[in-house]
Amino acid sequence: MAQNRRWHKAMVQAVVRSDPDTVLDVASGTCGVALALARHTDAWTAALDISEDMLERGRSLVEARGYQHRIVCTLGTAERLPFPDECFDALTFTYLLRYVEDPEAILHELARVVKKNGIMASLEFAVPERLWARWGWWLHTRALLPAMGWLGGGKPWLRVGRFLGPSITDHYRAYPIEWTVQAWERAGMRDVAVKQMSLGSGLVMWGSKR
Ligand SMILES: C[S@@+](CC[C@H](N)C(=O)[O-])C[C@H]1O[C@@H](n2cnc3c(N)ncnc32)[C@H](O)[C@@H]1O
Repeated sequence: MAQNRRWHKAMVQAVVRSDPDTVLDVASGTCGVALALARHTDAWTAALDISEDMLERGRSLVEARGYQHRIVCTLGTAERLPFPDECFDALTFTYLLRYVEDPEAILHELARVVKKNGIMASLEFAVPERLWARWGWWLHTRALLPAMGWLGGGKPWLRVGRFLGPSITDHYRAYPIEWTVQAWERAGMRDVAVKQMSLGSGLVMWGSKR
C-alpha cells in the first residue's frame, strides 16, 4: 500500500543520509528494506529474520534483482543477534517491537551492534494522537482492514486483519511513544528523532549511537 511505501522511504532516507558501508536490517521479512538500502547506498547489508520462510522469499527477490553480492540473508533472532559489539554503521528494524516480549531488552541488543556515531532507524505502526484521527484509525483497523482481508484472502486474512488493530493498541498502551524514545536513550542512542506520519498511524524513529 502507498502509505507503507512512504513510511519505508522515510526510514530508509534517515539511513541513506549517513552513507553507511555496513547495515543490519532486523526483522527483514522478505528483504524489502534491505533491497531499498541496496538501491540507495553502496552498503553491504545483512538481512536478518527469525523466519526461514520469509527469508527464502527474500533471497529469491534479492537474486531476481541482482543484489546477492551485497545482501546476505541471515536466520537469527533480535533477542540475540549473531554479531559482535559495534560492528555495523547502521541498523534498521521494521514492525518488530509488537512481536517481542521485552522491547527494552531488544533495543539494548540492537544498539549493542551499532558502531559509535552509527545510525539506528525504525518503522512501526502507531495509534494517532488526535481524537478524530484516532476514531478514523479505529474504524479502519477494526472494520475496514478485516473486511478487506476477508474479501482478499478468506478466513486466514480475516484473522490477520482482526489481529493488527488490537495488537497496535495494546502495544502503545504498554509502551507509549515517550517511553520508546526514553528506551532508545537508555539503550545508548542520542538525538532520537520521531516522525509521525499519516496522522500518526506510522512512526519513523532514528538516532545515533553515543
Ligand atoms: C510484519 S513483518 C515485517 C517485515 C519487513 N520488515 C517489512 O517491513 O516488510 C515482521 C517480521 O518480523 C519477524 N520477526 C518477528 N519476531 C522476530 C524476532 N524476535 N527476531 C527477528 N525477526 C522477528 C517476522 O518473522 C517477520 O518477518
